[in-house]
Amino acid sequence: MDGNGRWARQRRLPRLAGHRAGTENIRRVLTGCVEFGIKVLTIYAFSTENWKRPEEEVKGLMSIFARVIDRELNELHREGVQLRPVGRMEGISKSLKAKVHQAIDLTKDNDRIVLNVAFNYGGRAEIVDAVKRIIRDGVQAEDVTEEVIGRYLYTTDCPDPDLIIRTSGEFRTSNFLLWQAAYAEYYVTPTYWPDFNKEELYKALTAYSQRDRRFGEVQVK
Ligand code: IPE
Ligand code: MG
Repeated sequence: MDGNGRWARQRRLPRLAGHRAGTENIRRVLTGCVEFGIKVLTIYAFSTENWKRPEEEVKGLMSIFARVIDRELNELHREGVQLRPVGRMEGISKSLKAKVHQAIDLTKDNDRIVLNVAFNYGGRAEIVDAVKRIIRDGVQAEDVTEEVIGRYLYTTDCPDPDLIIRTSGEFRTSNFLLWQAAYAEYYVTPTYWPDFNKEELYKALTAYSQRDRRFGEVQVK
């Protein structure tokens, strides 16, 4: 969800106004995803590197996230959204953690769409955490396979992403789903995240549908 800051600057607004607009946009994109039949949406909300931002911005972001859960949880639940955390729980404040757990509990049986929230997420941190848990569980070296590693990642039983949409025109992965994105298709749009609407989503899906995915083979079909 990149470009919140630039969206705000364009309008001579404080950065946090951009983050608020960006958070409100999640609902629109989620609705679009449900309409287009997408079963799993992962949003990159806060990275392990985002803690390095000015304290005021980090604090502001945390309170925006807490308010969004308060405001939107019941409606998301009614619409059949299953919320799942993707990231490190350590480092998050006690009160926000409690809200996150409440959201997970309430929505765990919903199956219209899974909304993975990548929060305090880093692709490298995720692999480090997976390796630690594999070792702690006493998995033998010869039993370590790609499937085993996949299961130990935060995304555990979720399918790999088919499409990764990068807003605000940046051409980099920014530590997002490093393992899972091995064969993902990337789509980059110059649109800032708060302006990324259903039409934009449709354009991204159309572009995706024209890609020829070979997964390293010569021809799949
Ligand atoms: C992304 O928008 C949102 C978060 C990291 C939470 P940015 O804040 O990175 O927006 P730009 O890159 O400054 O435009
Ligand atoms: Mg950015």
